[in-house]
Amino acid sequence: MRGCGWVPRCFRESVGFRLIGMSEEVLKRTVAESQSERSEIIFPADANALGNLFGGRLMQYIDLVGAMAASRHARSITVTASMDHLDFVSPVQVGELLILKASVNRAFRTSMEVGVKALVEDVKMNQLRHVSSAYLTYVAVDAEGKPQVVPQVVPETEHQKRRYEDAGRRREMRAGETQRKREMRAVFGAGWHG
Ligand SMILES: CC(C)(COP(=O)(O)OP(=O)(O)OC[C@H]1O[C@@H](n2cnc3c(N)ncnc32)[C@H](O)[C@@H]1OP(=O)(O)O)[C@@H](O)C(=O)NCCC(=O)NCCS
Repeated sequence: MRGCGWVPRCFRESVGFRLIGMSEEVLKRTVAESQSERSEIIFPADANALGNLFGGRLMQYIDLVGAMAASRHARSITVTASMDHLDFVSPVQVGELLILKASVNRAFRTSMEVGVKALVEDVKMNQLRHVSSAYLTYVAVDAEGKPQVVPQVVPETEHQKRRYEDAGRRREMRAGETQRKREMRAVFGAGWHG
């Protein structure tokens, strides 16, 4: 290995840093670099008693596509820290084609907010129907599960810039909620959950 100083290149790249002399420059990546998509045809084994996609299975698909985008952005293992907003707008029926799209809205220090949109494609009519949206937070971790600094997001389009700003506001709300839970646990004990 050449030209890496005392830090191997693979390590530098895995943590999203470029070391210049003794200073650290955090890398930046565009939203487009990590945007991810997956598609599923819904089978009866995924359905509830009404013949619609089971909500828990949809959450699994949402989490998986969100993790793809987060891991591509961080170029690292990521874990789901939270899913803080999930709407089930319309049911998905057996046989329908489900499309899930994920984008990293914003990166903070070690965490990233990812927005996921689930759509059904009506292949006969060539139309898309919105079925669900969610915001998830992923944390980049090393092999021991320790949080790692991630590259910042560079929003390019007006839409990406709006989602970037909104993600900052949601993070403030999340921080308030985390603080509230900490205070409740301090009063009622570690077993409190609300
Ligand atoms: C998520 C996890 C790595 C955070 O570890 P931690 O020791 O609490 O680390 P920190 O307090 O330094 O927080 C690290 C980051 O996570 C964020 N974070 C922690 N808990 C969070 C939560 N509930 N919601 C959103 N973000 C959260 C922090 O804000 C911080 O972000 P930042 O660095 O961008 O500011 C740890 O709690 C964990 O491993 N949880 C289990 C994850 C898991 O098993 N997920 C399901 C399977 S993938």
